[in-house]
Amino acid sequence: MNLVLMGLPGAGKGTQAEKIVEKYHIPHISTGDMFRAAIKDGTELGLKAKSFIDKGELVPDEVTIGIVRERLSKPDCQKGFLLDGFPRTVAQAEALENMLSELERPIDYVINVDVDKDILLERLTGRRICTECGATYHLIFNPPSKEGVCDRCGGELYQRADDNEETVQNRLEVNLKQTQPLLSFYEDKGYLRNINGQQDIDKVFADIEELLGGLNK
Ligand code: AP5
Repeated sequence: MNLVLMGLPGAGKGTQAEKIVEKYHIPHISTGDMFRAAIKDGTELGLKAKSFIDKGELVPDEVTIGIVRERLSKPDCQKGFLLDGFPRTVAQAEALENMLSELERPIDYVINVDVDKDILLERLTGRRICTECGATYHLIFNPPSKEGVCDRCGGELYQRADDNEETVQNRLEVNLKQTQPLLSFYEDKGYLRNINGQQDIDKVFADIEELLGGLNK
């Protein structure tokens, strides 16, 4: 199963990715998570990425393409992968095509979690994430049983630095301009499948499961 998950910031990519990898046992490759881990560890990559992420801008293509190329060459990707948040520019999509053709692993589906941009500010400013296991919550739409504490592992919940209103507005603008053209890129190739992301979280996943069920037949 070779999958790409697309959607505007806050569309629900990370939320659905958690469920997909749990059910289908494929590695979750999130460029956003990789950059945040590098920032936390204070690596050279983290230093490069931080200034862009803090402003809500895209990290330069050559940096991003490099980390994905390295990750996709790891042995666990031989049984499939779920790319989340990559590609985000046409240059990244073209680089991915080349990488996958070298690896002889064509994309099965590009799943676009489709939501109206007007609901995303509320989703992102209300998001909370577990410091320990990375589980995602929302203060209103998906609250933990106990405020500030992860249901799954008891870890403390935090708010991402780029989930403030000003940075979210910029992330949305940048994505609408640079990433939305990729939808027609993938539609033309026949990979694109749109999933309605404005339903209950479990219903969105049920639609994805229905789509992926077709791959195993
Ligand atoms: P990244 O971490 O990828 O962030 P993003 O694309 O902005 O997406 P998010 O993680 O914010 O949202 P999501 O769609 O995963 O939503 P979630 O499931 O959490 O990237 C961060 C930054 O890194 C970028 O800005 C850029 O600088 C850089 N970067 C990353 N990749 C890059 C690339 N390829 N090239 C260049 N730069 C790159 O859900 C959001 C909230 O809504 C949660 O609280 C959740 O509980 C809730 N929710 C989810 N689904 C539903 C639902 N159906 N109903 C109600 N609430 C819901």
